[in-house]
Amino acid sequence: MAFPETRMRRLRYNSVLRDMVTETHLSVDDLVMPLFVCAGTNVRNPIGSMPGNYQLSVENLVEECKKVYASGVRAVLLFGIPAEKDEDGSVACEHNGIVQTATRAIKKEIEDLYIIADVCNCEYTTHGHCGTIIDGDVDNDTTLETLARQSVSLAEAGVDMIAPSDMMDGRVGKIRKALDEAHFEKIPIMAYSAKFASAFYGPFRDAAESAPKFGNRATYQMNPANSNEAVREVQLDIEEGADIVMVKPAMAFLDIVYRVKTEFKMPVAAYNVSGEFSMVKATGEKGWIDEARVMIEVLTSIKRAGADIIITYHAVEAANIIKGINEQ
Ligand code: PBG
Repeated sequence: MAFPETRMRRLRYNSVLRDMVTETHLSVDDLVMPLFVCAGTNVRNPIGSMPGNYQLSVENLVEECKKVYASGVRAVLLFGIPAEKDEDGSVACEHNGIVQTATRAIKKEIEDLYIIADVCNCEYTTHGHCGTIIDGDVDNDTTLETLARQSVSLAEAGVDMIAPSDMMDGRVGKIRKALDEAHFEKIPIMAYSAKFASAFYGPFRDAAESAPKFGNRATYQMNPANSNEAVREVQLDIEEGADIVMVKPAMAFLDIVYRVKTEFKMPVAAYNVSGEFSMVKATGEKGWIDEARVMIEVLTSIKRAGADIIITYHAVEAANIIKGINEQ
């Protein structure tokens, strides 16, 4: 039936009805808050390009985690900024590594906070690349060894989930095997499966002090123009044992989120990355957009596209808004 019998506006005249027919509901359960932990004590360095985000030393990180948990967000994604870096990221595999230390401290105080550890070498190498350099480029198979060691060490420290973000071939299988051999068969892997070589990571690299000192990440991260390749990456990670597959960034890659969700019956995560966050913050600060509404619209779009899990620096702010809406 067409107009005038059908009138699409009929369901839009009343707010109760509009709520009834709302198709996508953002929930605090969907959100993961990324946090940056650094060496030292009493450190709370504001990250200039990411308002409201800080490099935190362990005891301040624990306090921040309490605030996150109190907001209703029950999962964090940890990134470490070590005191010393080295050539191959071995510092990330140490018992007293920065994320390992942070994890033990958080678990002691907030047992139920779910801790996801990003696994990558770029924050830990002197050159800022995600793996070991041989002949001027990241060597895939050598890097797999440090990634596996880092993962096992983080599991020993008590993280709940491992999230490899390096984009080496074969790393999910290698990490799964290493975790299983160390009896961590219950620890899931959330793979950054379709991770693009994106300019949206700019602010993060200030935050994590992880910008490459030479070249770029184009030999390991994906070309943002490619979609079929993303599907192949996801397929391979699933075959290697990924429990959750991730698309990153989110906003400019919602077609990939949708494709991954429809082609694979898998839980899908999307990473609303630093540059996406900073754009909303900067335009909000200038008064050019309604920051809170744009934030919720962006996060809802990511969910509507098919993401089950949204990793976002807006997590705590969004949780407070969602709670406000639910209490109305
Ligand atoms: C580490 C890593 C990066 C991000 C998450 N893990 C940076 C990169 O690949 O350069 C980016 C997150 C963000 O921009 O918020 N490899």
